[in-house]
Amino acid sequence: MKPRLFLTAACLILTSMFALNTTTAAGMKESPQQDFSHEDFAIENASIHDDGNDDEDGFSDRDCGHEPCASVARGFHAFLDRKLHGLGANGRSCADCHMPTDHFQLSPTDVETRFQLLQWRRQWHPKADDPLFRPIDADDFRINGDNAGDFSNLRENGLVRVTLPLPSNMRLIDPATNQPSSETSVDVWRMVPSVNNVRLTGPDGVNPWPRGPNPSGGYQLDGRIATLQDQALGALVNHAQIQNPPAQQLLDDLAAFQRVLFTNDRVRELAEAVDAGAVPLPDPDPPLNDLELQGKAVFQRACAQCHGGVGQSTTQAPVRRYHDIDTQCPRPVDTVSAPRFSFTACPPRLARNARTYEITLTNGQKIRRTSSDPGRALLTGFVGGLAPADDWNKMDIPGLHGIS
Ligand code: HEC
Ligand code: HEC
Repeated sequence: MKPRLFLTAACLILTSMFALNTTTAAGMKESPQQDFSHEDFAIENASIHDDGNDDEDGFSDRDCGHEPCASVARGFHAFLDRKLHGLGANGRSCADCHMPTDHFQLSPTDVETRFQLLQWRRQWHPKADDPLFRPIDADDFRINGDNAGDFSNLRENGLVRVTLPLPSNMRLIDPATNQPSSETSVDVWRMVPSVNNVRLTGPDGVNPWPRGPNPSGGYQLDGRIATLQDQALGALVNHAQIQNPPAQQLLDDLAAFQRVLFTNDRVRELAEAVDAGAVPLPDPDPPLNDLELQGKAVFQRACAQCHGGVGQSTTQAPVRRYHDIDTQCPRPVDTVSAPRFSFTACPPRLARNARTYEITLTNGQKIRRTSSDPGRALLTGFVGGLAPADDWNKMDIPGLHGIS
């Protein structure tokens, strides 16, 4: 069975089990195991396994590409595993945020649906749980710690807390006093990207930025992580709050599983052609109508210099690797009278994520800048020069396959 079908089947099971659980809740009789578990999936896998051409885990060699099938299958289980045996995690699986039912991303709508469902279940079962809602991702976590429960950023924006240490030359301004605070790290709020096509969107070795980390691109919105193994480790530590170090095999398995996830079979075939060194590479687009063909021409002209290459995430020199496309809050305001551009102001639900930083430049001068997410500046402290001598608000280029 193809992974896509396999996943669809698994998702259907997941959904139906979820429905079953809520039915149980509605029926005022609780099953002791409310949530889907690794064991449940193991059983379901066996039952949806369909023909003798697949290996015992339901993945055929073709679907695994260059990855060992056993590793892909284990990675699939691990991705959905809320228990993470022996790691002392907080009950979250990767799939809690990278939802298989929504292209491995997390939409505000799904968050809100899950939040409402949880409140409803709690009428009958006060201990009902959805591990997406852990205090660490509550807005008030820094104030209320483990008792935090304000999930506005998650519910309204689908955003998750990412904590980054402050570079030594950057300090946060305390909004109450307007003076530098003693904080040594900052919380930025980031969306959950899809893990589809990550085989194509990692570091690509071309067109380097003058500074690391990962001058030729990487994982995360700021490109700060080089491998899917390191990415998985970071996720386990920061999102699943594991207390014990994971085995290397777990990280390798998660990476192997993610490397066979693609938006569709055409993108999968493109990745296979890249691996095989095929020239020319196949075009992953379906047959296009006239309007779509026009759009594609515009894309080649206006977008592909940044969203280029097989993953649509490679910049073409002389265009620089990392960019500020003014997605942060507050939005820029043109200082020239008769403004040349104007942006709609950020809505309050996003504007409140902005923080002001005091940055000490190399010449000792102190400047202040405000941003909801300074991007790569948080990795380097490199601020204040003319681009490209500046990492302020710079982000990696995301792939666009499957963006709809
Ligand atoms: C609490 C929600 C949450 C959980 C749980 C979670 N992630 Fe993520 N994931 C995110 C967010 C948010 C980002 C973007 C973070 C950033 O850019 O700093 C991300 C980014 C990623 C990326 C980078 C994608 C890209 O294109 O750069 C990968 C790969 C990934 N996660 C894999 C995993 C794996 C594997 C697990 C389980 C071990 C996991 N995630 C668990 C929220 C989550
Ligand atoms: C100067 C480089 C550059 C150009 C040119 C460019 N983009 Fe982007 N694009 C980016 C960057 C950087 C991001 C990520 C911004 C962020 O994370 O804040 C992005 C993000 C996106 C996203 C959001 C992806 C997601 O997963 O949320 C879409 C969609 C997109 N671009 C489409 C386009 C289209 C369409 C064009 C052409 C009209 C275009 N871009 C031109 C750099 C560029």
